[in-house]
Amino acid sequence: MPKDNFSRPPAHPAVTDPTQSAFCPRYLAAKKAIDDRALNHHVWESLRLALAQTAGSEPLKIIEIGAGIGTMLERVVERGLLTGPAVYVASDSDPSQLRAARQELSQWAQKRGHVLSWSGEHQGRLRTAGADVSIVLDPASAEELADRSDTLGAFDLLIAHAVLDLVDFPALLPRLLPRLKANGLTYLTCNFDGDTLFLPEWDGEQEILRQYHASMDARIAGASHTGRRLLTCLQRPGLELLAAGSSDWVIHPRNAGYTMEETFFLNALIETIERELAKKSSPPSNLVTWARLRYRQVAAGELSFLARHLDLLARRQGPLP
Ligand SMILES: C[S@@+](CC[C@H](N)C(=O)[O-])C[C@H]1O[C@@H](n2cnc3c(N)ncnc32)[C@H](O)[C@@H]1O
Repeated sequence: MPKDNFSRPPAHPAVTDPTQSAFCPRYLAAKKAIDDRALNHHVWESLRLALAQTAGSEPLKIIEIGAGIGTMLERVVERGLLTGPAVYVASDSDPSQLRAARQELSQWAQKRGHVLSWSGEHQGRLRTAGADVSIVLDPASAEELADRSDTLGAFDLLIAHAVLDLVDFPALLPRLLPRLKANGLTYLTCNFDGDTLFLPEWDGEQEILRQYHASMDARIAGASHTGRRLLTCLQRPGLELLAAGSSDWVIHPRNAGYTMEETFFLNALIETIERELAKKSSPPSNLVTWARLRYRQVAAGELSFLARHLDLLARRQGPLP
């Protein structure tokens, strides 16, 4: 990457608007490039091959839950996964994410010379050199989708990216996966798996991170180990686990700096941990010191960061018990 894509980051700015969710559109936009390089190549390649076998003469039907601002749709187009007509339902429980998705997708399409037109609030049509995609922005939670029977019928592919640690997936997936066709695929990516690491090491940080992971588990039991739990869950009868692999986030300074996205993303992560633990009745006594140190290290281009994730691809084989 050329050097001028890097910046000496400014001193820690207010990176997230406290009135917005932790997953504000700016954060999801910054995350895209980090996810792009983290996504597991073997699992992606397995998806590409399996989807080519699945595709019939009908338009490919894809549904994504927790789609945020639509970066996975951009990715499947950019990476050439869609080579013909397709319907892509991008759903999210937060309607404001889908409003941002419409804006993000429009800007992205324009930048790349694709044709994207909207009819009404939620329907779009994207035409690229290789693909013709009907887009449906569906403001529905994954739980609502699981229970809803609608006109779209069964899907060839269900995508969930960086969302399954926010839902009770052992209860959700058995209700959602029957919405796949026989031999339909599910691509479940960026599933957090219990490890966060900031470097250089700092005494006392282990306890801060332990409490942060515990706060995830307090919201949804087992959330901090979603990756490994999915690995087991997808080996149940009626499913074939086709591929699995790591998709860790790894960020380190280059030329004593980061890309703009990395700077924003690192500051947002530190702020998320700080804000989450500050809500506790007795926050760790070293929390503020820790956060200030880590913000300073981002500003100085001295921080490295790792988070462990797993990507998985499974196929529906027949009736699900
Ligand atoms: C971490 S963001 C990931 C967004 C997107 N997949 C990405 O990686 O850019 C999680 C998204 O899931 C959505 N979400 C949270 N709980 C949900 C649920 N129960 N059903 C559907 N979406 C949900 C949030 O609104 C948010 O947009």
